[in-house]
Amino acid sequence: MKSSPASPRGAGVGLRLQHLSEVATRRPPAAWLEVHPENFLANPHAAELLDEIARHYPISVHSVGVSVGSAGGVDLSHLARVKKLIERIEPIMVSGHLAWSTHDGDYLNDLLPLPYNWESLALIADHVNKVQDALGRPYHLENPSNYLGFDQSVMTEVAFLSELVARTDCRLLCDVSNVHVSARNLGYDAYRYIDEFPADAVGEMHLGGFVVEDEEGELPGQVLIDTHSRPIDDSAWDLYAHAVKRFGAKPTLIEWDNDLPEFSVLLGEADRANQVAAEAVSQERREDVVAR
Ligand SMILES: [Fe+2]
Repeated sequence: MKSSPASPRGAGVGLRLQHLSEVATRRPPAAWLEVHPENFLANPHAAELLDEIARHYPISVHSVGVSVGSAGGVDLSHLARVKKLIERIEPIMVSGHLAWSTHDGDYLNDLLPLPYNWESLALIADHVNKVQDALGRPYHLENPSNYLGFDQSVMTEVAFLSELVARTDCRLLCDVSNVHVSARNLGYDAYRYIDEFPADAVGEMHLGGFVVEDEEGELPGQVLIDTHSRPIDDSAWDLYAHAVKRFGAKPTLIEWDNDLPEFSVLLGEADRANQVAAEAVSQERREDVVAR
């Protein structure tokens, strides 16, 4: 399997179509950029701009259409199209979600959850192996943001991801904001989740904004929705510092997809991620010295 080019240190930003021309022509100082390949597969003009941008920035490819959780299998023709794009821009990483979004050939515009049991584990491990074989490189799987749990689950999400790493040798993308959102929505400890996460497999981290909504009905309360539409919340920055202490300062992406601000705002969030990571690393070193 082909190894990816060396990962950059520090935080990058998600590159959405609205910022494509600006980045191609003005080349703002981003450490690296992450793109959704699906935005470029049927858009020749955008693909041309991406080819130009890839000559100047490290690029990470984050698929929203490779559905490893689909019971009907992964779409090999979609994978072939993603592979073509990958071969052109030589990304530093390739990633996607632990979720499903297709059924019987229909593409749903959502990342849907699945139960964590032995049956789904065998299915997804088989699909991840197929994805890695087809792309010829490691695939980074991202933990989802959860709004419900399944009675059919027999293990935690972390145990499920650890088993997937053991069975497929895939890498993991730890979305720290998703950990916070899921932990709040399902009532578990986000810090413990990070402590138990298979640190050696982490190749990338994500940070994104979420909104808090009041839930009505039988079980009123608050639900956190992973909208990628706001600045990173302080609770997620705190959890990110904890994750950096545990995983090291891995390439981290600022994800912002809706109500997109000026590109400079994204760069500001990336600067903050670099500051939080640097402080966490030096704090970890000081604690290490004191412990010895
Ligand atoms: Fe994410």
